[in-house]
Amino acid sequence: MTKTKSAPKAGAAAAKKPAAKRAPAKSAESEGVEIRPLSAGDERALLAFARSLPAHDLLFLPRDISEPKVLKAWIRESEGGGMMSLVAAEGDAIVGCGAIAHDPLSWSPHVGELRVLLGAGARGKGVGRRLTQRLFALAVEAGLQRIVAQMTVDQTAAIAVFEGLGFRAEAMLRGHVKDRAGKRHDIVILGHEVADVLARLEAFGVVDATTR
Ligand SMILES: CC(C)(COP(=O)(O)OP(=O)(O)OC[C@H]1O[C@@H](n2cnc3c(N)ncnc32)[C@H](O)[C@@H]1OP(=O)(O)O)[C@@H](O)C(=O)NCCC(=O)NCCS
Repeated sequence: MTKTKSAPKAGAAAAKKPAAKRAPAKSAESEGVEIRPLSAGDERALLAFARSLPAHDLLFLPRDISEPKVLKAWIRESEGGGMMSLVAAEGDAIVGCGAIAHDPLSWSPHVGELRVLLGAGARGKGVGRRLTQRLFALAVEAGLQRIVAQMTVDQTAAIAVFEGLGFRAEAMLRGHVKDRAGKRHDIVILGHEVADVLARLEAFGVVDATTR
């Protein structure tokens, strides 16, 4: 087994605190955060959130949501039912957002792309996982058979969240995205065959949890 400098530290911390003790603390911390559908009234708070993000976090998003025009178009699309979008709200502030992008007229009508983004102050409390799980459930309810997510290879937290949900790395695209300074970054594409999971749930007789 290969050991990195940071891995043993994480292992030692985890060994000190049993998982059963860590989990409730995390969910308690994230309790003040409500996860709900994106609505027109969120425009101002969402713009403030987007503008508070470091450029690198916006990098993996195909659309720059810190641009008011782009944000308005996203809200319109979500309200019209064209995109499934959720926000994580703490009081009046938006601390995270996510969506399932899906084009029924494309050659992949059965595929949705899951995008999720959390502000730095809201991370590490279980909110990202909750938001991702809720988006995943929406995609399954909408009948999508396959879900993909793409991110720069250094987004280790994102990769951990997605792998925990059963996503697997399927491809790496070298130098595929450029940041504002013109530097190129590799991205990884993770995929999840929802249909396989549903077939397994059906075999165990628990499919009613996710389908009509
Ligand atoms: C991905 C993201 C939403 C995760 O949000 P989060 O609230 O910090 O994640 P959670 O607190 O729910 O943690 C979930 C798991 O991720 C892992 N994790 C969290 N932070 C981590 C880090 N910095 N490094 C490695 N793993 C990490 C942990 O395994 C954790 O599981 P645990 O409960 O067993 O400890 C957030 O990091 C983010 O917005 N990243 C930038 C945007 C991005 O890359 N999005 C993905 C593209 S779709």
